[in-house]
Formats: sequence, structure tokens, C-alpha cells
Amino acid sequence: MNETKSTSHALPVAPDNPADLSRRGFFEKLCLALGGVCGAILGLPLVGFIVAPLFRKAREDWITVGKVNDFALGKTVSVPLEDPSPLPWAGITAKSAAWLRRETDQGFIAFSVNCTHLGCPIRWMEGAELFMCPCHGGVYYKDGTVAAGPPPHPLVRYEVRVENGDVKIKSIAVPITTTLS
Ligand code: FES
Repeated sequence: MNETKSTSHALPVAPDNPADLSRRGFFEKLCLALGGVCGAILGLPLVGFIVAPLFRKAREDWITVGKVNDFALGKTVSVPLEDPSPLPWAGITAKSAAWLRRETDQGFIAFSVNCTHLGCPIRWMEGAELFMCPCHGGVYYKDGTVAAGPPPHPLVRYEVRVENGDVKIKSIAVPITTTLS
């Protein structure tokens, strides 16, 4: 018969030396301080990213979209328009457009291409004289008011002016539903 001998292991004894205790306290505080510094290094850019747009002033630019005689009376056409205050990473999405119509000899009207429901680009249907949104069936009359579907507001209008024969649109940051009320 085999007899196994049990060996007893001594549990570590807590240091009662004051020097050990103060060293341990020092390292605990050092770890907490380093954790706080790391948290601040990682967290500050995130806070800046969230808060910065609140303090950024939206730019408004007058953009020349063509000469008066480039546009036929009564015709609605798409003209390129750039978001004047794009985010640094906006890239191609900063390039947008507007629907422009020459109503009189010197009178123009311009609408945002973004549907006021969820921002999809709307299309002008020449024959029906309606703006149509392909996303959820939103329909707008030629004056930008809502004809049917879910859009909660008329189309956003841009200011237009004629200066020395140039047609200029006052570009504003791309309007989205949450900025409208
Ligand atoms: S985004 Fe135009 S109807 Fe929904």
C-alpha cells in the first residue's frame, strides 16, 4: 500500500514591513495615475470630435453657376454646387447640386436636391412638372411644396442673384432633415 505524504505549502504572508506597504501604495497610485493619463489621451480626441461641430460656423458662399443666357426661360436644370463647409473627410460627398429654374428674364429659383424626408436626391420630371424622390415616393410641386408622400417640409430653397450677367446661388451646408423644424 502506497502512502502519499501530504506536503503543506505556506500561504504568502502579508508584508507588515512599513517600507513594503508604502512601496505598494506608491505603485497603486502610479497605476491609477497612468490609467487616468491613458484615458485622457484616448478620450480627449473623441470628446473633441463630438463637440467641435457645435462651435464650427457654417460658411455661406455665393457660387456662380453660369451666365443668365445659359438658362432657357421656364426650364428646370441641375447645376453643380459644393458644400461650402465640408468636413475634412467628406471627399466626393461635399459635391452636390441644386435644381435651378429661370422664371423670368432675370428671376431664378433654386432648390436643394435633397429630399426633406431622409435626404435622398430628388429628380425633376419635366413632363409632370414635379420633383420625385425615388427612396420612399416623396413628390413635390414645381414650387417645392409637398404634393405627396412622407416629406415633412417643402424643399429647401437657395437664394439666387444675378450679378454682371452671372447667376449666383448662395450655397449653404447640405441641409438634412434634423436641421429643419
Ligand atoms: S427620402 Fe425622399 S421620400 Fe424618403
